[in-house]
Amino acid sequence: MTTRLILLGAPGAGKGTQAEKLCKELHLNHISTGNILREAIAQGSELGLKAKSFMDLGELVPDQIIVDLIRELLGRLPAENGFILDGYPRTEAQAVALDELLQEIDRPITHVIEIQVPEEVVLDRIQKRAEAEGRSDDSQEVAKNRLNVYRAQTLPVKEHYSRSGRVTGVNGEGSVDEVYQRLLAVLR
Ligand code: AP5
Ligand code: MG
Repeated sequence: MTTRLILLGAPGAGKGTQAEKLCKELHLNHISTGNILREAIAQGSELGLKAKSFMDLGELVPDQIIVDLIRELLGRLPAENGFILDGYPRTEAQAVALDELLQEIDRPITHVIEIQVPEEVVLDRIQKRAEAEGRSDDSQEVAKNRLNVYRAQTLPVKEHYSRSGRVTGVNGEGSVDEVYQRLLAVLR
């Protein structure tokens, strides 16, 4: 069966880290809107120019930009390719748009998993990355805003999928490998 997974979780929960490992193991496509936007900024493309001011503040990029981006990406992906959506959908409107798109192309989501990590742990991880890598939205102030935005705008996405009874919670504390094994157990 083809895996089409939505990975939910707060900023710093480990979505990107785990999506990368799972995609390698299970031969899936990793679709991270955050990575795509950071690349667009690095290239100075029109998409990057539109996204940068929002990302620098830890605010969400407007829905229509993201919905168009995903429509194009998924449209190009061969039907037999499974995928992991990492960092998308992030608002109720994005979730509704994704439902419509996937229905249109007849590729339903097979799993929705939330990586669950307490806020103090995610802030600590983001702080460590700020020191190690200097990602531009990892300062304490912007990271706190990303968490506020997550609570206000992205938690409703979990409710959206819970209504159809489809969200599996996975404990995101512990080592990267421990979390990975828990995720694999859900997917296998
Ligand atoms: P995005 O890039 O999606 O960032 P995020 O969700 O805010 O959070 P992170 O990527 O920091 O966290 P993650 O869960 O991927 O954790 P990671 O594996 O990196 O979005 C950035 C911005 O882009 C948004 O603010 C917004 O502006 C815009 N954007 C993106 N998508 C959008 C959308 N759909 N709509 C609108 N705007 C959008 O891990 C974090 C750190 O912890 C790493 O250093 C990692 O090495 C470490 N770590 C991971 N696991 C563990 C572990 N088990 N133990 C210890 N350390 C760990
Ligand atoms: Mg990420």
